[in-house]
Amino acid sequence: MAVSDYLQRNRERSLEELNDWLRIPSISAKSEHREDTARAAEWLAGRMREVGLQTVDVVATAGNPVVVGEWRGAEGAPTLLVYGHYDVQPPEPLDEWNSPPFEPVVKDGRIYARGSVDDKGQVYLHLKAVEAHLAENGSLPVNVVFLVEGEEEVGSPNLGAFLQEHVERLRCDAVMISDTTMFAPGLPSITVGLRGLAYMEVRVQGPSIDLHSGAYGGAVVNPALALARILSQLHDEQGRIAIPGFYDRVRELTAEQRAAIAALPFEEEGLREEVGAPALGGEAGFGSVERIWARPTLDVNGLLSGYTGEGAKTVLPARAMAKVSMRLVPDQDYKEIERIFIEHVKSLAPEGVTVEVEALHGGQPWFAEPEGKVFDAAKRALARAYGRDPVMIREGGSIPIVQSFQQTLNAPVVLIGFGLPGENAHAPNEWMSVENFHVGAEAIAALYEELR
Ligand code: BES
Ligand code: ZN
Repeated sequence: MAVSDYLQRNRERSLEELNDWLRIPSISAKSEHREDTARAAEWLAGRMREVGLQTVDVVATAGNPVVVGEWRGAEGAPTLLVYGHYDVQPPEPLDEWNSPPFEPVVKDGRIYARGSVDDKGQVYLHLKAVEAHLAENGSLPVNVVFLVEGEEEVGSPNLGAFLQEHVERLRCDAVMISDTTMFAPGLPSITVGLRGLAYMEVRVQGPSIDLHSGAYGGAVVNPALALARILSQLHDEQGRIAIPGFYDRVRELTAEQRAAIAALPFEEEGLREEVGAPALGGEAGFGSVERIWARPTLDVNGLLSGYTGEGAKTVLPARAMAKVSMRLVPDQDYKEIERIFIEHVKSLAPEGVTVEVEALHGGQPWFAEPEGKVFDAAKRALARAYGRDPVMIREGGSIPIVQSFQQTLNAPVVLIGFGLPGENAHAPNEWMSVENFHVGAEAIAALYEELR
């Protein structure tokens, strides 16, 4: 098939282009990288124009720009909106990378670089599918609109408003997203559920300045201990979250869903090895996959207080701080969870310190039945590219805008991930499988044909 041949012939060039994009440190969390994120947006827009999209715009927002690229030459055919992000997570800790995060290295069939799998490689393979069709046939079997943002990793604070403002331009029959993982190598996967998120910061203030722990210790409440005590009361002995009302809206797994999970090729020991911890742990009564896909969590993402440098310093710190995030499942509402978290944590504050709690960002959980024309086409396309039928999975991560897509555009959202377990997203030595980059492009090219 010509399109597939084109992709094969151009594999090396495609990979080199992706590496160019990966060299741009588009870190959305850090303001010093604002120009880099803008450069990453322009880079993509440039490639979209070269490939032959008809209209390409880099649209300014209150934050990083959104890249919109359209090809609408298939009259009467369905329109696909491809969503992804060009921003990446901060690369720290730098000394744990085997090669610099923004100097991509291709080794052992993997592309090592920050943003390789999350999400530049997964966005770029969609553009490769478009390129192959346009190069070989001069047209696409469907209409395609790309919407690639630069703030996904910081909670998409400006994309909701952008959607509202451009509803007409973004009107589509389905939203396609590749920003997730496959359940196992070679096993194509469609993600039908994501967890939501409520991200909080807890600040505990004791004395007005750091104190000599000998001169004052014992007579002044220690904020680090006060915070530790608060945090330790947020779970019970069963690993359940001990915030009143937290589970009120949690949709329980059905017996059928539990059976489907049990039928997947998964070993607890394999997961333990992947993460390198001495043992796994979590809410009693559930397996790891159930815990990650369908149960809410409360995690400490960061903890700071007192002296943490070399050697010893006898100090009673003035303050302590924790970053706490909760992953949410249907039908929890992040606004409500933020509210009960704040109320409960404040109620746990011991005398002698003040406790402030702030909500940093959030997103709703999402779950969809994989039914309809686009899901069926996606299943056939994945089966063609990978030689086996895809599995339906859920994932524990979050893509905050997914729920808004469904509501604002009233279109089904189909998540086809080309990441793999252990790919180190958000961690040192992030990688994407070279094979999945290429086969992913084949799958998307096939999807356009299946939808015709
Ligand atoms: N690609 C991930 C989402 C993801 C992670 C899907 C793991 C499936 C499994 C995305 O880029 C991401 O990291 N999202 C953030 C969202 C947050 C910053 C609002 C997340 O899940 O932490
Ligand atoms: Zn991410």
